[in-house]
Amino acid sequence: MKILEAKNYHEMSSIAAKIIIEKVQSKPDAKLGLATGGTPIGLYEELIQDYRSNRTSYERVCTYNLDEYVGINPEDSNSYRYFMEEHLFAHINVPESQIHIPDGTAEDLEAECERYDVELNRGEGVDIQILGIGSNGHIGFNEPGTSFSSHTHIVDLTETTRKANARFFQRLEEVPTQAITMGIASILKAKEILLLVSGINKAEVMKKLLTTDEVDEQLPASALKNHHNVTIIADEEALSLLREKKFQYK
Ligand code: PGA
Repeated sequence: MKILEAKNYHEMSSIAAKIIIEKVQSKPDAKLGLATGGTPIGLYEELIQDYRSNRTSYERVCTYNLDEYVGINPEDSNSYRYFMEEHLFAHINVPESQIHIPDGTAEDLEAECERYDVELNRGEGVDIQILGIGSNGHIGFNEPGTSFSSHTHIVDLTETTRKANARFFQRLEEVPTQAITMGIASILKAKEILLLVSGINKAEVMKKLLTTDEVDEQLPASALKNHHNVTIIADEEALSLLREKKFQYK
């Protein structure tokens, strides 16, 4: 894993945006794996800014989101579909038909997971997958204990995750208890992975992830150590508990 240390959230977002923009410019039909949460918002803002000033085109790009809550309508402001529309899709020229997000309101959720995996595996794999990390080490909604051979599946969200996400809802009780998420094996199929990490509340998990070589299903993000092209872009606060900084800087 390559680690790029950014000064702060803004720099983390700019470094990630530069990588995505270069990919879309060199490969106009790139497949992008996208994430929600607080972490990628700055990256999406930079992509929108670049689209406005440089007209980088997303006309042929396909997007695949990591996850979606179960039982929340795509039009609901708490859905990840809505989040993506608000923070990215409404502001760039990616065609609706090229946007892929699991449908958390599907009648048959198991069939929806299978359908999503088929979509993901169509043609070449995802070119770049953006990831955030939960303070419990989850990637996507793959909570500790998830099998590393998992494909798209339904998960029960842990209390830690529901509490962390409650900030986007009025009350904790409104946070769904389940989600559909790409599995660890689905994520690792991407050709390149960018893990974005910012803030002091991620320092503990970064220490856990980076101070051992251990790959353990109790720390889902450790699966990334099995992938050949992962770049972690983390800010100073997120890396603040690592005493030895033997990282490669940019
Ligand atoms: P955050 O969430 O970006 O809101 O911190 C990351 C995650 O839970 O994967």
